[in-house]
Amino acid sequence: MKYILPTILLSAAAYFTSGLSTEPAPALQVRSAETCGDPAFALPLYRIFQPAVPARAYELDVTVVTAEIAQAGWTLERISAMAFPSQQESTVRFYHLGNGAGQSNFWTINTTELNAALQEGYSIVASDITYIYPTQICGSVPFYRASGSANKDNVYTTSESEYLQFIAEGFVDMGIAGYVLPLNVVQCD
Ligand SMILES: *[C@@H]1O[C@H](CO)[C@@H](O)[C@H](O)[C@H]1NC(C)=O
Repeated sequence: MKYILPTILLSAAAYFTSGLSTEPAPALQVRSAETCGDPAFALPLYRIFQPAVPARAYELDVTVVTAEIAQAGWTLERISAMAFPSQQESTVRFYHLGNGAGQSNFWTINTTELNAALQEGYSIVASDITYIYPTQICGSVPFYRASGSANKDNVYTTSESEYLQFIAEGFVDMGIAGYVLPLNVVQCD
């Protein structure tokens, strides 16, 4: 490698100085597993539902999910995605914001939305730590978001048809919240 790299740089220099071609230089881009999180660390992101509010919440921690179901009237709705419980290469925090028990909860990677919510009295739920991709890389898929019931009921889903169904029922289209691993995680290349 020590010897190969200078050779590549020399040929790139020769290429740029030759002035004979109008073709763009080939990108010296290395895309390796190093730019991806290790899918082995991804966990199911459980989607739980509380019909009485109604509200939906997203949890990686099975202990929390079990407690919510046992004590607080939540039901397990589905596994919404695979996501990371710690920061991995190229991932960003999927902040859980809440403004009090039984109140509005939502999740975002968008720091503008985060800061606006903090100003409105929301706080970050520090115990809920989830990381997802901000762009569609590493075999990730869109995590669609639709918002209903005064922001209490935020649906995040990898299913485009489910997302469109909620919008058809009157939920606000919030676009793509980020990119998550699908339930059948594949190793990225
Ligand atoms: C972040 O949120 C703001 C406010 O909702 C929005 O205007 C902006 O487009 C969002 N940025 C991205 C990258 O989605």
